[in-house]
Amino acid sequence: MQLLSKEHVIGEKMKIAQKILNRVLWMPIGLVKGILEIANDKARDYNNKRLYPHALIDTNCCFTSDTIIGEHSQILKGSVVNHCRIGKYTYVSYNALLQNTIIGNYCSISSNVKIGLGLHPLNLFSTSPIFYKVKNTLKVKLLEKDLEFEEYKSIEIGSDVWIGAGAIVMDGVKVGHGAVIAAGAVVTKDIPPYAIVGGVPAKIIKFRFSEEVRESLLESRWWEKKAEDVNAMREQLLSICQNFPVVN
Ligand SMILES: CC(C)(COP(=O)(O)OP(=O)(O)OC[C@H]1O[C@@H](n2cnc3c(N)ncnc32)[C@H](O)[C@@H]1OP(=O)(O)O)[C@@H](O)C(=O)NCCC(=O)NCCS
Repeated sequence: MQLLSKEHVIGEKMKIAQKILNRVLWMPIGLVKGILEIANDKARDYNNKRLYPHALIDTNCCFTSDTIIGEHSQILKGSVVNHCRIGKYTYVSYNALLQNTIIGNYCSISSNVKIGLGLHPLNLFSTSPIFYKVKNTLKVKLLEKDLEFEEYKSIEIGSDVWIGAGAIVMDGVKVGHGAVIAAGAVVTKDIPPYAIVGGVPAKIIKFRFSEEVRESLLESRWWEKKAEDVNAMREQLLSICQNFPVVN
């Protein structure tokens, strides 16, 4: 075995000493940065609660200033909601990303759902934003003005829609009232009311109810009412679906 020279050992020790010194010197800056980050997060959480006093907003959520959230709705930790209008009694679970979307009332949106991811042009020689956007994330300036291209298309989600964990809804899609999107589905096309869709790309698995029941429920438009009023008509609504077992 080759023995290490004295110089090599000293060199290694110097490196370790330098590392320790670096850490000690940077520690106060790191601490201040950490405190500022915590203060910034707390200020944002406080601001979110102030902006949406009639909804339940968890910590670490981000919203664009044009986002509207209806009464009794809830947004859980880490979700990002950009340029959206969310109705009443709708909840969005953890770490969801919703963009350019109109969402109805009484919807259940599970964790890690992504709606409205945005588009890149497919008919240019490249899909990279540096070739079509002046202000691109890479900050490479090649253009004087943006090329005409619709980067986002709005999405419409009806009321009483349940979107399973990790599902993705593509730009421009319309989801009918009462539809269910299975966990992990990628929705690329419009979904009719009360359809249950799943898979990649999402296909109709089945409908929640027969056509007659679907029509009656759509006619009732119960989701436009307050929860207490819907509850008061519970028996009537249940009787519409009577041929179908109620899952508890
Ligand atoms: C879509 C869903 C509601 C269907 O429930 P279900 O009616 O009890 O469905 P079943 O288990 O009877 O399955 C029906 C068919 O759909 C398929 N299927 C079920 N879940 C699926 C999914 N996530 N992706 C693709 N196909 C799915 C089944 O394989 C079955 O196919 P087959 O008829 O060819 O055998 C359910 O599977 C689901 O994804 N729920 C979301 C769960 C979730 O994310 N919860 C978070 C809490 S908010």
